[in-house]
Amino acid sequence: MVLGIETSCDETGVALVRDGVLLGEALSTSMDEHARYGGVVPEIAARAHVQAIVPCVRAALASAGLGTSDIGAVAVTAGPGLATALHVGVSAAKAYATALGVPLYGVHHLAGHLAADLVDGTPLPNPLIALIVSGGHTSLLQVGDLARDPIGHLGDTVDDAAGECFDKVARVLGLPYPGGPAVDRGAVGHDPTALAFPRPLTGRNDAPYTFSFSGLKTAVARWAESHPDSGVPSGDVIASFQEAVVDVLTAKAIRACRDQGIADLLIVGGVAANSRLRELAASRCAAAGIRLRVPARRRCTDNGVMIAALGDLLVRAGAPPSPPDLAAMPGAYLERAQLGVTASLTPTAA
Ligand code: KG4
Ligand code: ZN
Repeated sequence: MVLGIETSCDETGVALVRDGVLLGEALSTSMDEHARYGGVVPEIAARAHVQAIVPCVRAALASAGLGTSDIGAVAVTAGPGLATALHVGVSAAKAYATALGVPLYGVHHLAGHLAADLVDGTPLPNPLIALIVSGGHTSLLQVGDLARDPIGHLGDTVDDAAGECFDKVARVLGLPYPGGPAVDRGAVGHDPTALAFPRPLTGRNDAPYTFSFSGLKTAVARWAESHPDSGVPSGDVIASFQEAVVDVLTAKAIRACRDQGIADLLIVGGVAANSRLRELAASRCAAAGIRLRVPARRRCTDNGVMIAALGDLLVRAGAPPSPPDLAAMPGAYLERAQLGVTASLTPTAA
């Protein structure tokens, strides 16, 4: 049984997974403590992880009716994320692994997102196109065997991530933190065609899989500043902004599937919880004959289940453990699921 630990941002997530089955989980968030600052404060997040980590492990074990002696391996997010926050999870994981005499697996946070719904049913299709949309990253990826193969980047964002754009625009429009869920709620029942905000990098000569969201953020801010008494309902502004983001995300993801001849699309990360993104992706994929997979909402934002599920996948694939001096890697680039190993599994045939 794998104990999974996630502490890369403001969520302390712990879960227990064995052979693809979720046995127990616990989640604690310091979100409310950051709200008054309008964004995550790394020191506050780290302190909250220190306080929450052991109670979360105990709660996950209690919910499974199991004890520490049932833990056969420990998987932990080693990066990317806030350095202060990652250190807490990595230190805790090393302590549990050492004390219990079990192997340690450092994993990449974004690969964890890809594994988020492995405990809910079927294995991931191979190959697949994955759209990762989180607070810190926006990427279109080509994924093979998640445990073995290198992960190919078709395109990334050149500036802000999609979630960051939601959070910053929400702030400009006076919505509460965190911005993504506030925009999602604020857009319900409003007109997404009221304002034509730009769709960045969607011109004929633009890189097809590259994203850019900082210009859109600026466009919304400028519009709000220069039209204080426009009479346009704020819900319509919010809905029009959200539509621009999800239009670009879904159009590029579907183009990637078509161009690469891959009929399976996986959308993950915090922004994958967005109702309009889920709705538009479903209708566009249906029209294009693409099978769409999006984890249940609660598994889109950071949690321990995704890390335990990925650790379980690595263990079952026979991956070598990470060294006991595994370090937090705040800026880790996504190349493969596991972090901190030199000898990894042989990739499956290309
Ligand atoms: O994956 P995640 O929980 O943490 C990171 O790895 O970054 O993603 C957090 C991001 C935040 O920017 C948050 O505003 C956004 O996901 N988010 C949403 C929604 N729920 C969370 N964005 C749009 N609509 C949502 N419903
Ligand atoms: Zn995340």
